Order: sequence, then structure tokens, then C-alpha cells
Amino acid sequence: MSKIREADVTLVKNTARIQDIVSSFVNLKPAGPGSFKGLCPFHDERTPSFHVTPARGFFYCFGCQESGDVVSFLQKMEGLTFVETIEKLAKHYSIVLHYEEGNTAKTNASSLRARIVAAHELAIGYYASHLKSQDLATRYLRERGFGEEVWKEFEIGYSPEGWDGLLRHALSQGFTNDELLAAGLLSQGSRGTYDRFRGRLMFPIRDLSGEAVGFGARKLHDNDEGPKYLNTPETAVYKKSQLLYGMDRARKSVSQSQQVVIVEGYTDVIACHLAGITNAVATCGTAFGIEHIRIMRRLLHDDVASQSQVIFTFDGDEAGKKAALKAFSEDQKFVAQTYVAIEPSGMDPCELRQELGDEGLRNLLARKVPMFEFVIRHNLQQFDLNIAENRVAALAQCAPVVANIKDPVLRNEYVRNVAGWLGVDIELVKRAVSTKPQSQPASVAKVDVGFDLKKIEHRVEYEALKVVLQHPAEAAEWYQSIEREAFTSPSLQSLHDVLYHVFQTNNFSESHVWTDEVIQSNPIAAQLIVEPLQIRESQSISVYVTSVLARLLELDATRRILDLKGQVQRAPEGSLQQTELFAQLIALEETKRFYKDHSRGQTLG
Ligand code: CTP
Ligand code: MN
Repeated sequence: MSKIREADVTLVKNTARIQDIVSSFVNLKPAGPGSFKGLCPFHDERTPSFHVTPARGFFYCFGCQESGDVVSFLQKMEGLTFVETIEKLAKHYSIVLHYEEGNTAKTNASSLRARIVAAHELAIGYYASHLKSQDLATRYLRERGFGEEVWKEFEIGYSPEGWDGLLRHALSQGFTNDELLAAGLLSQGSRGTYDRFRGRLMFPIRDLSGEAVGFGARKLHDNDEGPKYLNTPETAVYKKSQLLYGMDRARKSVSQSQQVVIVEGYTDVIACHLAGITNAVATCGTAFGIEHIRIMRRLLHDDVASQSQVIFTFDGDEAGKKAALKAFSEDQKFVAQTYVAIEPSGMDPCELRQELGDEGLRNLLARKVPMFEFVIRHNLQQFDLNIAENRVAALAQCAPVVANIKDPVLRNEYVRNVAGWLGVDIELVKRAVSTKPQSQPASVAKVDVGFDLKKIEHRVEYEALKVVLQHPAEAAEWYQSIEREAFTSPSLQSLHDVLYHVFQTNNFSESHVWTDEVIQSNPIAAQLIVEPLQIRESQSISVYVTSVLARLLELDATRRILDLKGQVQRAPEGSLQQTELFAQLIALEETKRFYKDHSRGQTLG
């Protein structure tokens, strides 16, 4: 892996204009001085809460808290890696990139990532080289219809049964024990490290960009006490909530066909690809979740007008149905385009291909039904609809599902459908649906932000961090003298801790770009970077910045004075200690007056 020169990355970041890039995905409208807003591309909404502040090169969504700079925006939108994003932007702005060889002994985060990926590439080769001689493994593969060319194509391997085969091989190739542990290829025992995967069939897992990040490993031996499938544990590069097996292969086909097929297992993905269903993926040792939905939406370039389809295949068992019902509860818009293909015989796609060939597998997908239909019919199945009372009861059970469909056109369609399935009058269904109270729309989760803007102290602390983040050069001088006790809100105080540290190690210019270290340190940071200041039109920035920081110091001084007064009272009357405290008190009163002069009565009401 070669690495883009740091200077070039900076050049790209400084050249790329966030409003240009965002505008090709989001219709932006002015929202106050220096700020734009539009409908958030990262969550479903009807009123714009997605803000872009070009001067800061930053975006933030008040609805879903998604935030970042131009690079992270494009990266999230298009599901690219960081390097891919930089390359794309460089091309857009005609910047020539230079690369460095990346496996020097540096231990920064990106080189650790590169080492982990390299370790996996090595492991893939190692496991593959042990496959052919392992009859149990090759028999398993052949029984599922996978010949040698498939092993090669999907890089399938076998992890030998010893305890340290991979470990010794990787050490001999220059990897360290720590790197292999960080990669999740080793387990840590009381007497040292040993191979995590032993005696298993190995399916390499690559991320969206095709980098090897982990393995799914199927048990083969009867004496193996472990689970049927063992996966790479969570590591710096293996995040199971965001990985989909086969995504690297399916990616192109998914965005071309505007369709993604979700199957349950590794062998099912392989069977689909072999049958020409090249947009198939599976989760890796975890349930399908909201993060997976987001990633697919990005690949599908999902927007309101899109015709994209997500097809779940289930082998007809209850677990599959539960999964569908779960996805149903997670994301309405997603569900509107979601289809379910269930194989009544209970065969999974891999078995289906063996029994009925590629054609049989493709037929399964042709039998897909919309998820809403699936859910409603699943409910109806519990009733004997030949009995009139049951039809009423069934209607009562289906009505809330239909009432919850937000799209009015689709909802009406389902009113008609339900009437048909139940054999009752449309008007009856309409009434049942409209009398059902609609459940609350999935609102953005309330987070405990750790401050209360009704309190003046918190308001000032909040605004102070805003001015520091938005005008670092102007704030620097005053900010230096602010101690952490000046912040009474724990969450604002912790952001201050991070910021203060950065201030001590940097020189600030007005166009300072905040690093992820700061932005990700605290969920509120991004919001503070983009939220408009409470400045009055007539005020100059530097006066305003000073007044806010001075007000913060003034409030801090007030609290300390109160504390000191208590101490003075408690000290023995006429003692030296009392005299000293008293002197401190007078000095502090003086300091407070100085701050008060500069705060210009800033109340931030
Ligand atoms: N799975 C898992 N952990 C398990 C069992 C299953 O992570 N203990 C996941 C795997 O991703 C697996 C998928 O669920 O691929 C489907 O499981 P299953 O149908 O039981 O296995 P198959 O892959 O179909 O394997 P086989 O045909 O050998 O039974
Ligand atoms: Mn299966």
C-alpha cells in the first residue's frame, strides 16, 4: 500500500470547496451569514437540518449528528476509503498526487492499518496453501458445488490445527506479535499468544475498498468445541456492524443495478456470485443492522426519487422472518424499497443452487415480495380467514402496519391490497387504518448532552467554546488563561480539555482546520463549529470573542469569590490564614472587575 504524501493531502483538503462537493448531492439554500442548509443525505428528513459552513470547511446535521469536512462527506456519501476520496477530489481539482511507500516503521494509526491489512494478505496466502491437502475441507467445498477455480477466486483457505502455524510464519515474514494481535489473527492466552483460527475453513473478508480485514471461519472437525462460525474479533479495521461479506465484489454491480441482494452466509454469497447474482452480500457473524443499511444506501445512491431495491433472502425459517421484521422496524424509507424472497422448502441459496442450478437460484429472487406485503401476510397467516370474526381480528392486527406507512401513495395501495387479501370492503380497511393512532415517527435519539442552555453559566461556556472553535486566532490570547474549572458542565469541560491541549501545541491562523482528534473527542464539537454565533450585527468579531471569553472568566471569578468568602468566614477570626485569604479575596475582586469590563455585559440571552 502506498501512501499519499501528507502535503498533497493538505493541498487537496484546502483546495476542495465543501459547498461545491455537497451541492452535487444536496440542494443547499442560504441559512444565515456564511452558512447553508439542506435535506440531510445521511438520514431521512423533511425539514432541512443539514448545515454547511464553507468558511470552516465543515458540515453538521442537527438531526443525525453526522459531521465532518469535505473529505469525510464524500467518503460517507460514496462509501470510499480515505485514500480513494483524496484521489477523487484531486482529480476533480486537477491536483497531482505523490505517493510514498507506506511500510516504514512508523506506528501511527494509518500505518498500523496498513500492517493489519498486510498481515491478512499474508494469512490469506498461508491458509490457501493449506487447503488442498486437507480432505475434510475440500470435500466440504465440493459438496456445496465449489470446485478448485472457486476456491481460488474466493481465496478460500484452511487454517492448520497446530497452535502457532500462522504465528511462526508471520513472524518469519517480519510481522510482530503485537501487529498480529491487533489484526485479530492471534488470541491471547495466559502463557502467550496462539493462532485464533485452527482447523477451520477460512473465508477472507474484504472491506468496501477490497482491503483484507478479517476472516469468517467455519468449523470442520467434530472435536472442535467452538461455534460453527468464528469471526475476526472487533479490531481497528474489522467492524462487524459495518462489514458485508462480498461487498468489494458486489459494489459495482450494486450501484449499476440499483439493487442489492442480502443472503445469510458466506457460501450463499459465493453461490449467488457464481449464478450471476453479482450484487449479493451477507453480514459477517452478526445480525443485519442500521449501519449496514446506511452503507448500502450510500452505494445505492439512495435518494427520494430512487428506484433502488434491497432484497433479503431467507431460507424460510423463523429466524429469517424475525430478521425481516426487525429491519422493518428500523427504517421506513429503506423498508419501502425492501423485498423479501423466501424459499418455502427451507433451502438456503447455496443448497438451492446445488439442487436446482443457477436458474433455480435466480427464480428465488424473481419471487420476491415487498417487505410490507410480507409482514402483513405473515400476520394474516395466523388467522383462518373463512370465519368472519377472524377477518375483523386480522384487520385489527394489520391496520397499524398500514397506518404506519408514511408514503401516502403506498399506504393507499396497501389499503386496497389488505381489502383484497381479507376479502373485505375497502372502506372498512380505510376506516380501520385511519382510526389507528400513528405511532411516533422514529425520532432522533435523545442524548444527554450534559449541559442546560437555560442556565447562564452553561450558555456562556457553550458560546465560549463556539468562539474558540470558530475563531481560534482571535480567541487564542484570552483562551490561554481559562482554567478547566471555568467550565461547570462536564461535557463542555471535557471538550475544553481537548481543545486546550491542542492550543498549547499549535499556532493558530484564522483558517485553522480542526482535526478529527478534536471533532470526534466530543459529540457536541461539530455542532459548535457550525452553529451561528450570537453576535450582534454591529459588533466586530474580535470584540465579541473577547466579551464572551471575559464573561466566562467573570463567572468563574464570581464562583471563586463566593468560595473564598466562605473560607474567610470559616478561618479563625484575626488569624494569619484569614488575613491571607482576605488578601486573595481582594485581588480576585479586582480580577473580576477587569473581566467584567471586557465582558461588556454579555448575557447571551
Ligand atoms: N453464522 C454465524 N455463526 C454461527 C452460525 C452461522 O456467524 N454459529 C452465520 C454465518 O455467516 C453463516 C450464516 O450464518 O454463513 C448461515 O449459517 P448456516 O446456514 O448455519 O451455515 P452455512 O454457511 O449455510 O453452512 P453449512 O451449509 O455448512 O451449514
Ligand atoms: Mn445456510
